[in-house]
Amino acid sequence: MRRAALAVAALAALGAAAAAWAQSAGVDARRPGSAYTSRETQAMQRDDKANPGMLSVLEGEELWKAPAGPAGRSCASCHGADAASMDGVAARHPAFDATRGEAIDLAGRIAQCREERQGAPAPRREGRELLALATFVAHRSRGSRISTGEDARLAPTIEAGRALWQARLGQLNLSCAQCHDDNAGRKLGASTIPEAHPTGYPIYRLEWQDIGSLQRRIRGCLTGVRAEPFAYGAPEYVALEAFLMDRARGMEMETPGVRP
Ligand code: HEC
Ligand code: HEC
Repeated sequence: MRRAALAVAALAALGAAAAAWAQSAGVDARRPGSAYTSRETQAMQRDDKANPGMLSVLEGEELWKAPAGPAGRSCASCHGADAASMDGVAARHPAFDATRGEAIDLAGRIAQCREERQGAPAPRREGRELLALATFVAHRSRGSRISTGEDARLAPTIEAGRALWQARLGQLNLSCAQCHDDNAGRKLGASTIPEAHPTGYPIYRLEWQDIGSLQRRIRGCLTGVRAEPFAYGAPEYVALEAFLMDRARGMEMETPGVRP
């Protein structure tokens, strides 16, 4: 017992020393969620033929080209068949929507084009269609560095997200920060607590047997601490998304991520 406790203390000291060294050396100590998954899961994410999230990318590509709404326009009609116009777009969302005067996340932006520019029915949040389109668009940002937060108009949204991040929530009375800032790398039951960087979203989660958004992932943490989750699309989620993207500023997008 005592030996184990000493070993843990030594490891923690080593970890703190490494982090301090990294900081002083200007090395980025942040690690994406994939770094906290098993070798098998990492290999699955890396190999497009094995990554189950790639099916959503392909489905999104079909939807991109398919006409919708009364004018029969597709996303491709306005944005181009090769979708190169979408390169890097996910890496800077949530973005500030000047018309609405508020932050909008990538799924919200796509839904807005579907509804207002194609005149098609508003796609459902977490519905298959919107997830596939968002995964297709976000995949075009793979390797792009996250830049949300460079737009000063997002500052109030990011601050609102930070306040939520630090607030104690739910019956367990825990904040996001207590787990993800203070205890990243530690075990919680069978899972390892990651740093919660949103680099891989939408992700394919093996537990879900499905693709899912960052909002769905955060929802899982909210119910985990026995807090009432927000409704999909709620400003609280957009604020948390904006905060997490700003916290991950400069990290590379890796959509579609694979998680246990
Ligand atoms: C009790 C500890 C705990 C709290 C509190 C918590 N989380 Fe988590 N979170 C986890 C664990 C554990 C995982 C990984 C679960 C897994 O893979 O099975 C996770 C995963 C995540 C991920 C996915 C990261 C990735 O790499 O894909 C995000 C994002 C996240 N949490 C955000 C939040 C937010 C936002 C809050 C506050 C609303 C929060 N978490 C509160 C434990 C926590
Ligand atoms: C009728 C033309 C039209 C159609 C059809 C259309 N869009 Fe758009 N979309 C636009 C315009 C115009 C903008 C720029 C709006 C702005 O910057 O304020 C835009 C912006 C976007 C953005 C944000 C780009 C950025 O640089 O921030 C995304 C993402 C997007 N559209 C995705 C889609 C998807 C996915 C579809 C199909 C479901 C689609 N759009 C259909 C015209 C269209």
